[in-house]
Amino acid sequence: MCGIVGYVGEEDAARVLVDGLRRLEYRGYDSAGVAVHAPSGRVEVRRAVGKLRELERALEAAPVHGKVGIGHTRWATHGRPSEVNAHPHVAGHIAVVHNGIIENHLALKQALISRGATIASDTDTELVAHMIAEEGAEDADLETCVRRALNKLEGAYAIAVLSDREPGKVVVAKSSSPLVLGLGEGEMFCASDIPALLPYTRRMIFLEDGEMAVLTAQSVEITTLAGEPVERDPVTIDWSPVMAEKAGYKHFMLKEIFEQPRALEDTLRGRLDREAGDIHSSEIGLSEEDARSIQRVVLLACGTSHHAALAGRYYIESLARVPTVVELASEFRGRGAVIGEGDLVVAVSQSGETLDTLMAAREAKQAGAKLLAIANVIGSAIPRLADATFYTHAGPEIGVASTKCFTTQLANVLMLGLWLGRRRNTLPEERAAELVEALAHLPQQMEQVLVGTRQLVANIARHHVEARDALFLGRGLNFPIALEGALKLKEISYVHAEGYAAGEMKHGPIALIDGHMPVFVLAPRDSSFERSIGNLEEARAREAQVVAVATEGDEAVRAVADDLIEVPAVLEPLYPLLTVLPLQLYAYYVADFKGTDVDQPRNLAKTVTVE
Ligand code: M6R
Repeated sequence: MCGIVGYVGEEDAARVLVDGLRRLEYRGYDSAGVAVHAPSGRVEVRRAVGKLRELERALEAAPVHGKVGIGHTRWATHGRPSEVNAHPHVAGHIAVVHNGIIENHLALKQALISRGATIASDTDTELVAHMIAEEGAEDADLETCVRRALNKLEGAYAIAVLSDREPGKVVVAKSSSPLVLGLGEGEMFCASDIPALLPYTRRMIFLEDGEMAVLTAQSVEITTLAGEPVERDPVTIDWSPVMAEKAGYKHFMLKEIFEQPRALEDTLRGRLDREAGDIHSSEIGLSEEDARSIQRVVLLACGTSHHAALAGRYYIESLARVPTVVELASEFRGRGAVIGEGDLVVAVSQSGETLDTLMAAREAKQAGAKLLAIANVIGSAIPRLADATFYTHAGPEIGVASTKCFTTQLANVLMLGLWLGRRRNTLPEERAAELVEALAHLPQQMEQVLVGTRQLVANIARHHVEARDALFLGRGLNFPIALEGALKLKEISYVHAEGYAAGEMKHGPIALIDGHMPVFVLAPRDSSFERSIGNLEEARAREAQVVAVATEGDEAVRAVADDLIEVPAVLEPLYPLLTVLPLQLYAYYVADFKGTDVDQPRNLAKTVTVE
């Protein structure tokens, strides 16, 4: 979750680095720093705790000019947030920025101290700087020092390194943590993620695990850690820089909520076969034989992606009649789960880099399962591991709270269910055609819900802004949506919220309900409708403030709810993509009225690359 940026060229490096780091703010951070090759021939470092503004102040107070540098935003993993723990870390002639965790740091630290090193910080990264510096015999170039040091490290890292002795060069390397190289004209870049580089270049190369690269203004040379040359063509990234900016919205999250119709359109584009009532096989990446032969589907994910996976179970079981289980990736890992040939493992992850999901997927693949990734970030770690990837194409999601990536994940798991159902002869052609047609119209209906309910939801949020708790109830496909509504509210507004399967309410949570509690009941006209209304009545009888999300024109619900949020009538499997929208807006407005940091909520990071 730390952010790395590196630059070699003709521009003022500190300016390019801070600009790139700002575009990585969504990853979450508590401190920041840059190291620049100064005209004096020395590498100079500036660091600050807090937001990038603090780093800018440090640079204003003590400017450092140069054309080569590395920068970093840190999210603490070893050692509290402080200036001394902020990156870059320096040892002798070496400066290093690092994203990841060095597992053998205790042993390395003891060994370094025993050899006379003085360690200033509590970080594992400083040890990396010392290790590289130790390799620095006069005849060894920087890449050789880095290579030798990395062979002694265990764990996850993406690093960028400068040396006083080689002013025109940045050396980078990667294992498990993401790193992308940007190719410019007479300038080269590296970064943890694409948005940092978009204003400068669209030509990018994704470094693979166990690879390193030497960047100069004119060249990028990639090798393995063993020193073998690697040839890789750059890919062209078509995300525009504007897509990564707020486009006039107060927060990225609000912008991304309103981008959902467009994001869904992009996700559906080229995948729906409206004539045949099917999903194009080439888009899923699995073979027809795979579809017929799998005996079980196992969905692995964390957080919001886990909620999409829960909806995926409903889709895959009902449309394709394949036994399906959903696992929290963190609980799947290392428990010796029974998995292997005949299983299709679907790893769902916006970032494609969540460590628990990556490790769980790796474990399943090693056991012989087929691995399909559903991810948003092209070329990220989970797609690279997978046998096939079904991308969501939602574009960059900057807000820490996932919104457009959730609804596009829902679309993908639904399309997967459809595709499997058609090939397993469990889904009649007419029903599939109906669903495909309905999906094609969904972006427009999303727009209608977002535009039509925004003010109402803002008013409801204003009314409940002081509520200390909230309850979200849903059945069937709307149960994952209840979980998601509660998660959104918790993570950005810090209000305690519970998402429950409505049928479970009377088994415990009903005791929480009193006249101060807003209770959201998801009650569209689906096969659970009557029972959902029963739950709504039970909440009302305990004086809860009931907010119903129901089908447009449903007067029966209007009569029993304190507030009614309407969504258009759609086929049952499509309701979750609409009912979640007002819940996202509700969480957003409660947070905004409370004045919390909506896009970077406390303690959270966009991409969780630690256990
Ligand atoms: O990148 P991933 O989808 O793998 O991330 C999983 C979770 O960390 C993520 O969904 C998290 O729960 C979000 N902050 C939710 O809004």
